[in-house]
Amino acid sequence: MKAVIPVAGEGTRLRPHTHTIPKPLLRVAGKPILGHILDDVVALGIKEVVLVVGYRGENIVDYVRANYDIDLSFVEQSERLGLGHAIYLSREFIGEEPVLILLGDTIFKGDLKKMVASGGNSIGVKRVADPRRFGIAELQDSRIVSLVEKPEKPKSDLAVAGIYAITESAALYGALDSIIKSGKRTKGEFQLTDALNLMIEDGSVLKSFEVEGWYDCGKPEALLETNKALLELASPEVKIPGSIIIDPVYIGENVTVESSVIGPFVSVAKNSTIKRSIIRNSILGESAVVEDGLLDSSLIGDNAAVKGMFKRLNVGDSSEIDFT
Ligand code: UTP
Repeated sequence: MKAVIPVAGEGTRLRPHTHTIPKPLLRVAGKPILGHILDDVVALGIKEVVLVVGYRGENIVDYVRANYDIDLSFVEQSERLGLGHAIYLSREFIGEEPVLILLGDTIFKGDLKKMVASGGNSIGVKRVADPRRFGIAELQDSRIVSLVEKPEKPKSDLAVAGIYAITESAALYGALDSIIKSGKRTKGEFQLTDALNLMIEDGSVLKSFEVEGWYDCGKPEALLETNKALLELASPEVKIPGSIIIDPVYIGENVTVESSVIGPFVSVAKNSTIKRSIIRNSILGESAVVEDGLLDSSLIGDNAAVKGMFKRLNVGDSSEIDFT
């Protein structure tokens, strides 16, 4: 089995961070999103990976080449024509081999080995409370009969999670070829979902596989939620003399922390400095500086500095000051 990871998107919902760093390289729980994904791919025993690059592709190529000793191929998507189009571009690298497709902004935890080993075409799904906000898999017995984007009247609560193990690769690429040649776009883009529905119509059997951990990183709130969840899953206890650390946190190499309260759910990349501050539920980039700061649910980029958030007050008896 080979893996395809589309990472060409501009990550507009994560601006301003993605102005300088492509979304897959934004850090969460101490590692780039793409690092988490590739570690999982390697753990599955997959040795050949195709990355569909576009926006700031050179940064992604450099990162992956420097950190992963696996068989890597890169294909460029010069125009963002949709996820279906991005996957279509990988066809010559995959041929008829089974393919595992993982989105470049989604991390999975759980029994992926079982999903891959289950054979046949498996679509990763997760039960959600409000199916009308998601792409939903409609099932008959265990077979998917159709994938519907944000249905008004959802027939299931199984959201399409963004991981696809496809054994009938020729049928997938054939379906993508049809939708691209016929110009069928949904919301202006060539959609992978449309190709999967076409596969079903043409007789392919697609089954659903419930993934345990589905961690989206596409928006600031989602990135912070994922940071929290991954830190909760695994992070060593941290102790820094002179400061209070509330686990779980990730503190990178060569980070200076003085007279501060850090955590819970804080990731700090290497070479950063935190002095006289209180920080919780936040991600700090490399060489960031926070002094006299009070931060919650914050994303602080590389080399950014935030200083002086404590207030000086002169408040008389029976007064009320409310900063909320
Ligand atoms: P998204 O639409 O969530 O990512 O695509 P995006 O476009 O980067 O983000 P926003 O919407 O502007 O904030 C999911 C995955 O599919 C890839 C993206 O890079 C992301 O990893 N993708 C999407 C492509 O590679 N090409 C496309 O044409 C569309």
